Amino acid sequence: MQPVSSQEPSYNGLAAAEATLPSSSYWEAGAYQRDLDAIWYRSWLFACRESDLAEPLAFRTVRIGTQEIILLRDETGMLRAFHNTCRHRGSQLCQESAGRLKARLLTCPYHAWSYSLRGDLVRVPSKSLPDGFDKADHPLYRVALSTWRGFVFVNLAENPEGTAPSSFDPASGDLGNWPLEGLVSGHVLRKVMNCNWKIFWENFNECLHCPGVHKELSRLVPIYGRGLMARHDDPEWKRHADSDAPEFSGGLRDGAETWSRDGRAHGPAFAGLTAAERAAGQTYATSLPSMFIVGHVDYVRVVRLAPLGPEQTELTAEWLFSPEALAATDIDNIVAFGTQVLEEDAGICEVNQRGLRSLRHQAGVLMPEEYDLHRFHQWVRARHAAHGA
Ligand code: FES
Ligand SMILES: [Fe+2]
Repeated sequence: MQPVSSQEPSYNGLAAAEATLPSSSYWEAGAYQRDLDAIWYRSWLFACRESDLAEPLAFRTVRIGTQEIILLRDETGMLRAFHNTCRHRGSQLCQESAGRLKARLLTCPYHAWSYSLRGDLVRVPSKSLPDGFDKADHPLYRVALSTWRGFVFVNLAENPEGTAPSSFDPASGDLGNWPLEGLVSGHVLRKVMNCNWKIFWENFNECLHCPGVHKELSRLVPIYGRGLMARHDDPEWKRHADSDAPEFSGGLRDGAETWSRDGRAHGPAFAGLTAAERAAGQTYATSLPSMFIVGHVDYVRVVRLAPLGPEQTELTAEWLFSPEALAATDIDNIVAFGTQVLEEDAGICEVNQRGLRSLRHQAGVLMPEEYDLHRFHQWVRARHAAHGA
């Protein structure tokens, strides 16, 4: 994060009163389409984990905006992604959300055109083929795919920029010491939130709402209880610069080890973490616009977002554990705590959304603590500017 104030070079807060995005950008159909075109249809988007497609012929479909993508592992073990659309007359190909293909072919349910798992059109059941028709000209529409540490990303652009690793915000945390590749799923929460996707990210990027919205979390992470995310969010931070007390340093309350109802870790701590990473309590890595990961000492939480409409966003949260911890541990205490925090966030995001239609509310204004939210707005504006939206 770049310092913003000229008087306090290390102070994070915004010095000037910055406007939010226009209210209509959270509900108007044209604005939603511009977000899809400028951001969602040209970014690396988290789709699923490699272990969700562990065996050959495993598949799953994901929806992003109006687009439906099928991801699969072919018979040679390669991961592939295609638009879930037949080249004949455009029918949806795969109607299920996940499973295992029964054959080494994708066959359209309408007139039975069949495609290899590489996406080549191999069978057209018409009695004869018209002049000028060549099966080689009609493969499935391929979607770029990139993996990062066991996470599968797709990019709908025909010539995508970068790769999945480059999609992570360098200003967010580094999970290099967490053994992400080998973790297994303990719990999945799926939820449709009645809010624009940007409302969720705005909420993610500030903790001004924490004292009022997250009572328990604010007790666990005392600096959140002050409405701040980090030491340098406080204009008076120099007065407490040497204090390790968690209300200033940002760590968990004394005696707590992780995000759980009682603050206790419920499995062995990951062996590779530094003392600072253990003390931090939570380390966030962010890949806009589709996901963030939070590393705790004993587990990891992954949150995936996908827009379903101008005022609808799908949220999928997954709790990941080491196989040993999952086998030996009762995870209810962990899952219940994280679920509560996400439900509190989703609830207040919907409240935020409902107020934005006011004819009088053309835009809002940001407070100093909302510097990261402002940075998110600048990212959105830059993406729109770069892609003619
Ligand atoms: S639309 Fe797929 S075979 Fe006709
Ligand atoms: Fe929150």
